[in-house]
Amino acid sequence: MPLRHLFTLLLLLAGAVSSSPGHAAPPASREHLLMDFGWRFAYGHPFDPKQDFGNGVGYFSYLAKTGYGDGAAAANFDDRAWRPLDLPHDWAVEQPFDEKASFSHGFRAIGRPFPNASVGWYRKSFTVPASDLGRRISLDFDGVFRNSIVWVNGHYLGTEPSGYQGFQYDISDYLHYDGKPNVIAVRVDATLEEGWFYEGAGIYRHVWLTKTAPVHVAPNGTFVTTQVAGDAATITAQATLTNGSATAQTVDVVQEVLDAAGKTVATGPASPVRLSGAGQQEVRVRVPVAGPHLWSLESPYLYTLVTRVRQGGQVVDEYRTRFGVRTIRFDANEGFFLNGKHLKITGTNNHQDHAGVGTAMPDALQDWRILQLKSFGCNAYRMSHNPPTPELLDACDRLGMLVIDENRMMGSTQTNLGDLKRMIVRDRNHPSVISWSIGNEEWAIEGNALGAQIGATMQAFAKTVDSTRAITVAVSGGWGQGTSTAIDVMGFNYIGQGDTDAYHAKFPDKPSWGTEEGSTHATRGIYFVDNDKHYSAAYDEKPSPKFYSIEGGWQHYAARPYLAGMFIWTGFDYRGEPTPFGWPSITSYFGMMDLCGFPKDNVWYLKSWWTNQTTLHLLPHWNWPGREGQPIAVWAYSNCDEVELFLNKKSQGRQKMPKNGHLEWQVTYAPGTLAAVGYRNGKQIATDVVRTAAAAAAIQLLPNKPAVQATREDLAIVTVQLTDKNKLPVPTANQEITFRLQGPGRIIGVGNGDPTSLEPDRYIDKISVVQIENLKERAAKSMAQGPETTAAFDDAGWGPAFTPRQYDAAQLVPTAKYYVTRGSFELPPTLAGATVTLFYQPIGREQTIYVNGRAIAQNLTGEQAVKNGFVLDAALLKPGKNSVVFVATPLVKNKPWDVLNALPGSIQVRTPAADWQRKTFNGLAQVLVQTTQDAGEITLTATAPGLKTSVLKIRSAAAPQRHSN
Ligand code: GAL
Repeated sequence: MPLRHLFTLLLLLAGAVSSSPGHAAPPASREHLLMDFGWRFAYGHPFDPKQDFGNGVGYFSYLAKTGYGDGAAAANFDDRAWRPLDLPHDWAVEQPFDEKASFSHGFRAIGRPFPNASVGWYRKSFTVPASDLGRRISLDFDGVFRNSIVWVNGHYLGTEPSGYQGFQYDISDYLHYDGKPNVIAVRVDATLEEGWFYEGAGIYRHVWLTKTAPVHVAPNGTFVTTQVAGDAATITAQATLTNGSATAQTVDVVQEVLDAAGKTVATGPASPVRLSGAGQQEVRVRVPVAGPHLWSLESPYLYTLVTRVRQGGQVVDEYRTRFGVRTIRFDANEGFFLNGKHLKITGTNNHQDHAGVGTAMPDALQDWRILQLKSFGCNAYRMSHNPPTPELLDACDRLGMLVIDENRMMGSTQTNLGDLKRMIVRDRNHPSVISWSIGNEEWAIEGNALGAQIGATMQAFAKTVDSTRAITVAVSGGWGQGTSTAIDVMGFNYIGQGDTDAYHAKFPDKPSWGTEEGSTHATRGIYFVDNDKHYSAAYDEKPSPKFYSIEGGWQHYAARPYLAGMFIWTGFDYRGEPTPFGWPSITSYFGMMDLCGFPKDNVWYLKSWWTNQTTLHLLPHWNWPGREGQPIAVWAYSNCDEVELFLNKKSQGRQKMPKNGHLEWQVTYAPGTLAAVGYRNGKQIATDVVRTAAAAAAIQLLPNKPAVQATREDLAIVTVQLTDKNKLPVPTANQEITFRLQGPGRIIGVGNGDPTSLEPDRYIDKISVVQIENLKERAAKSMAQGPETTAAFDDAGWGPAFTPRQYDAAQLVPTAKYYVTRGSFELPPTLAGATVTLFYQPIGREQTIYVNGRAIAQNLTGEQAVKNGFVLDAALLKPGKNSVVFVATPLVKNKPWDVLNALPGSIQVRTPAADWQRKTFNGLAQVLVQTTQDAGEITLTATAPGLKTSVLKIRSAAAPQRHSN
């Protein structure tokens, strides 16, 4: 039996044991269920209600009366024609590019000028067992971009404007507990931007269903702080309890600390708590832990605090908080200290998108990206410029990466402070987080009194929520005035914009660091500038006369002990801000790695000076046909003392490596082998070799790991590399590759790191929902086929459907026995390969349906009428206007005020995706392969004309599933 089935069976058995017939006792402990699977999606519209599935047009709509969610928000709305998908999902990355679209968001056709792709609707059904009645159930969103409105069973729950905050709705009172499906509807409006960088669109982070006992730990309701003294730590564990019942309750709370192996290492005393009906209470205990294992970058050791709520001798809630024991300290002269040890911060800024998937990043990709950063000595990550998904912070905790967690919008109103509080409360248990950033480059205020006031208010407020971390702000100008006077730790954005020494002299007691440095631009694998092709050379040029190269920036920070460190702008390229070019470039050029996470050469500069690993790297590649006899600049990045360069075995000279620098030679080009030998203390300790490659002959598929887990979430990150006949990578090969996948997996995205590539990231079936329009009707004499059922029939004199119907005296039964209802639907200009399906919603008790004059279903009644859909014969359809006619006996009312269905369903047009494809860019591309829940062998095949086909087999191993609903 597959593991997950066994697991389900065990759960069912456990349920059967704990619940008694009749009155089922709610399960004792909380459940946290993933709600990512099995959603339906369709595009709505920001201002045309007809294209927005009739939402918000009811005489009483959802803001007027509870339960009056109308259109697609209604519980009984028919979403069968919508596209099925799993979360996380970013629909922006699925849009084509358009020059009229936003520069900052990477020219995706979304936003104000593209209303048809700016609103998305999501719906999902789920059931809860009767035994859940009496529990508190909440629907938790990790983040939705943006301005989401959520309904459950037609009840409006709330609106969340932020695209970055997590939010929850307690839906216990709105659910059906009798086996009837519950329906979530979410309308997401990404018309407006919050940032000046790509932000995605949709439910791009996880959704959860949390079930608890009435008395339970509140969402994000624990706060663990640690004090270390010598070889002992004291854990202060604070928990906020919520009473979800109307009556007063008495409970006690016990805090237990588990080590990383799950062994209990300390238990706190029981704290009795009396909660009033619907009340909240905080409890705090101190728990000593002897000989704590400290959290550090090398050993990111995590403890778990288990908070148990006991009532009447029974545990009614158990809440787990992961935390680390560590100390952090900033010093105005000496920088940053972790666990009392000095640590120079070698960080990067990053946004939240990746090749192929946009902002909808599976958790496995978060981990991989953090490891990529760590591989060159990056030890800190600034969440620029918004609160991240919690899974990214989990990855930083587990893998050892320090974090600046950043608020989105600077301001000191209740709304702003409320958002700041939500971020801090959610994230304050992560040991990786060392500082809260309250803002970035707020040009209107940073250098003036307003900035000082707002900054001071925000900082004081933040400290009421968490006093253990320093507050910082990233400032681009006016250093020494405004915000920079008010803040704990000064953040310099770019040393080209001011004088850090002067600031330090003026504020000798203020710690400081470089919240942004660099903003250099480079195209991976390109070593010359070509403004027509939008090529930036990867030789670490200064981005502008005033700004610094990465090397120049690091030398400044490395030389000044008072600077705690710096954060490069950026670790990875991201979509949007294609500075210095613009259309048709669509991603930034700032990254130390490209959008796929393939390193640019700067990575080896950083690795040389940010790690202790012996490093030696030569650039550029050595494929320069046509440049024979001409000089080419060869650089070496290394932390060896000396490096000697050879071309075809002939020495080009041995040079001493300057600290935090690099070496250069001018080499007269001849194809062959460029080799470098690195020496330390006179001894040869490293080599790097670059060879001239021949033409591409084969494709290599290189997965980041040999086996993946069959969870429907795990991922293989596959590098596509073109090699020559001798298996040498070809650094200049740009060739279209086609990918096919067989077995229990799916490709979820492709990329190549080329900032000018306008190829799709995703190849997905195009599913559009077409409405049946222009409904007109007349009474008929029988169900028989008459001339009115033909497409060409002239119905100009007919009145609108449904409205002219007369009802009998009791207002229940229409006076006519039969009606002919005529309508039309508009199909796209090309239908090649498309499957067109009518998802019918009965407008009669018995009906016959004609499409373009031909009967596609006859005398349908009851369930038959709604089952599946009617796939329409392609030969029957034409692009543009098509006719649909219903001959039916009318529906009848039970009560005079019943509103009968007047929408005969909708039509789905599904055009299958082309095969997945991507050009390699300078020899490389990337394919993201996600598992299904079935174990087995995934086969990925890559083909291209003239190249040897590559077949990669990845084992997808049976694995425990995350509990989901
Ligand atoms: C900074 C800004 C970043 C990014 C960068 C590009 O001013 O804080 O978000 O826009 O410039 O150089």
